[in-house]
Amino acid sequence: MKKISVLLMGLLLPMFAAAQTVKSPDGNVSLTFSLTGNGQPTYEMSYKGKTVCKPSHLGLELAKDKHASKGMEETDLMDGFTETGSKTSTFDETWKPVWGETSTIRNHYNELEVNLNQASSNRNITIRFRVYDYGMGLRYEFPQQESLNYFVIQEEHTQFAMAGDHTAYWIPGDYDTQEYEYNITPLTGIRPIIAANREKYKSNSSTTVFSDTGVQTSLQLKTKDGLYINIHEAACLDYPTMHLNLDEKNLVLESWLTPDAVGRKGFIQTPFNTPWRTVLVSDDARDMLSCKLTLNLNEPCKIEDTSWIHPTKYCGVWWNMIVGTKTWSYTNDLPSVRLGVTDYSKCKPNGTHGATNEEVKCYIDFAAKNGLQEVLVEGWNEGWEDWFGHQKLDVFDFVTPYPDFDIKMLNDYAHSKGVKLMMHHETSSAALNYERHLENAFNLMNKYGYDAVKTGYVGDIIPRGEYHYSQLMNNHYQRVVETAAKHHIMVNAHEATRPTGICRTWPNLVGNESARGTEYEAFGGSVPYHTVMLPFTRLQGGPMDYTPGIFETKLSEWSNNQSYVHSTLCGQLSLYLVMYSPLQMAADLPEHYEKYDDAFQFIRDVACDWDDSKYLEAEPAKYITVARKAKGTNNWFVGGKTDAARTSVVKLDFLDKGKKYDCAIYQDGKNADYEKNPKSYQIIHKTVKKGDVLKIKEARGGGFAISLLAK
Ligand code: NOJ
Ligand code: CA
Repeated sequence: MKKISVLLMGLLLPMFAAAQTVKSPDGNVSLTFSLTGNGQPTYEMSYKGKTVCKPSHLGLELAKDKHASKGMEETDLMDGFTETGSKTSTFDETWKPVWGETSTIRNHYNELEVNLNQASSNRNITIRFRVYDYGMGLRYEFPQQESLNYFVIQEEHTQFAMAGDHTAYWIPGDYDTQEYEYNITPLTGIRPIIAANREKYKSNSSTTVFSDTGVQTSLQLKTKDGLYINIHEAACLDYPTMHLNLDEKNLVLESWLTPDAVGRKGFIQTPFNTPWRTVLVSDDARDMLSCKLTLNLNEPCKIEDTSWIHPTKYCGVWWNMIVGTKTWSYTNDLPSVRLGVTDYSKCKPNGTHGATNEEVKCYIDFAAKNGLQEVLVEGWNEGWEDWFGHQKLDVFDFVTPYPDFDIKMLNDYAHSKGVKLMMHHETSSAALNYERHLENAFNLMNKYGYDAVKTGYVGDIIPRGEYHYSQLMNNHYQRVVETAAKHHIMVNAHEATRPTGICRTWPNLVGNESARGTEYEAFGGSVPYHTVMLPFTRLQGGPMDYTPGIFETKLSEWSNNQSYVHSTLCGQLSLYLVMYSPLQMAADLPEHYEKYDDAFQFIRDVACDWDDSKYLEAEPAKYITVARKAKGTNNWFVGGKTDAARTSVVKLDFLDKGKKYDCAIYQDGKNADYEKNPKSYQIIHKTVKKGDVLKIKEARGGGFAISLLAK
């Protein structure tokens, strides 16, 4: 036995001669870097001695045609490397986010920097690893140099070699949308599902599924021996979004970047650092939710004065249009629209337009009465008659209101009541057009006192042929955020690229959709485990504008829409905690909230900015229970959401010793069920103290919400 291992060592040594190991501060995560015999960078990773990533290669393949750098022989940055130096270091700081789940965040890691030279091309690159207690991040760095100045990426080949056929919680890899329900299968179960659903996947307004084994990040995995692994990226700037493609034979997941319109995957000028490729790991699912690795790998805040950025609860002229009882458009008279030429004052109003002066005033009154800070108004501007499906460049100009929307009067009215209107810019995916109008659009917002915009990218991208997640589009979304910051405007971008923690650097990016939101409950519904899946996946990179709070869950009870919300009423309340966001909508109609005013009290009370958060129970696609302490107060709020019926055990050991709390528990009624009896709920009031234990029944597709107000 001894002889064999000595022999093996002898064989392996030359291949892994440069092996270097760096461990997490607590020693649980271990990462080893080495070069193979042909000089290919390789890493492997373990957690408490268990394999997380088997030896996985790193490298980039470059384009070699007319798009490549002039006069330069393009050698791939894949192999032929030798190590010219390396450095290890430790970093430990605590920083304060402008808004967040906690008031401080510790960024503590051990770093390994490896400098490599490719002799054949005389190019130098650096690979940097940061190892945290719950995972690691790695990135490629390209210093500026004579032989590597400009280059074009054909494909990035970063591997994540899995040690088994893990359970994967996945959505198909798509260059344009993330609006999918999650599948739960072994890794080898991905192909049959994508192959069988290709036609179905085409039903979204813009979709490009690229491979039968392609999936999106963040990808949540669970091993047979109880490890939770999560693969994503951080700080995706000036680079295309990364997907993963599975080599089923070897169970290797490999990066697959979003191409541009001509199939290129990144135009780079050095010096340049790629986004971080991240792997979270723990044997406790709660760590996947509380770990702040993605934020920590982003740069500190670049906005000096952040006083104008504020967490916000809002309502809006929205759900009626999604359900189909109102329209964004003003008239049915027009076969098409020419901005600046079409005279809307000559058109007959269609009688279903949502954003009328009268309707908006009702929402402003409702917001003012219930402590909601803003009112979103969609369909306020000319062009919606031409919105969908024409691949038209100039559907909207973002500054011209419909005749029945008096922008000055409504903003004045809102401000007189202490409320702000929230702007809506549906771009119809014509990014080119939006950039042309951006400055004017933001000036208009400044003029009337808007401080937040919801943007949207429905349909195929213009410039035509580009994808939602390409380098060009990622640069577009970023330009919008940075321009907005100059105008003191907060951004909530729908259908944009999935977030990668950039909100640390640009905290005016208060929200994104970039996943299947509540709107789908009106388009046929989403599986009840959807909202106990998203925090593990989509929320890794930043908050989601999920738009919860639908109380009249059976839409046919008040509209012609046959869909229903796949949640109980209390399940909807729980989402204000479970789906963390500094932007929370009360998405249902005011008249519906008035019918259930005692339950609406929770939405009135709940905070949306926090000093502390404690994940009490969690399992992907099954349940999440979280307690959060409202910023600057002694009040706590707890939310629990479940897929199947269960009992949640909430130990109140996070409360202050010696204090008493007024506790209101909003829980599913005895026979509540998201399909059969969604609106059955009970509200229990009691006084509680630290150490008390609450046992709360959650219905199928249900949940609960608790407010704990310090006496
Ligand atoms: C899709 C968005 O997700 C939704 O919230 C919005 O109402 C429509 N686009 C119209 O812009
Ligand atoms: Ca959407």
